[in-house]
Amino acid sequence: MFGLKGSDVLQSQHCLLKNVGVSEFNKQHLRLASYAVEFSQIVEELSTREPEASDWKHVDALFSRISLFVAVHFREEEEVMRSQGYPEFEAHKKLHDQFVNELAKVQSQINNRNIKFKGKLTDLLWGWLYHHINEVDYQYRDFFMEKGVK
Ligand SMILES: [Fe+2]
Ligand SMILES: [Fe+2]
Repeated sequence: MFGLKGSDVLQSQHCLLKNVGVSEFNKQHLRLASYAVEFSQIVEELSTREPEASDWKHVDALFSRISLFVAVHFREEEEVMRSQGYPEFEAHKKLHDQFVNELAKVQSQINNRNIKFKGKLTDLLWGWLYHHINEVDYQYRDFFMEKGVK
């Protein structure tokens, strides 16, 4: 772990992420976490009122930024896993693919303007990322360290 721990303030949640041992991936995780926090905030706000045109613009821009950066991050992680012969590569990639599918579903709900800004959507990104980084990504830490990947 690095940074603060134990705060339940949304803005501090990204500090609860574990250090996965590869500095570029730690940086990418923080960036993803800040997008996830921004997404949770807008969802929470729109759970109390009807979205206006400017809200849709914000949601569209944010969600495409998220999808693009998730794709970049997954591609880079998978590339290192593959090139280093990480034994859990296939299983890990499957989890990435499932999340990408999940994001595509949300994207089409956003595109069709039939998304519900409440319930599990608030925590969709942060919940998945938090679990994946700390429980799944963290598992490659020792393997990459032994291989000298930093
Ligand atoms: Fe990751
Ligand atoms: Fe991952």
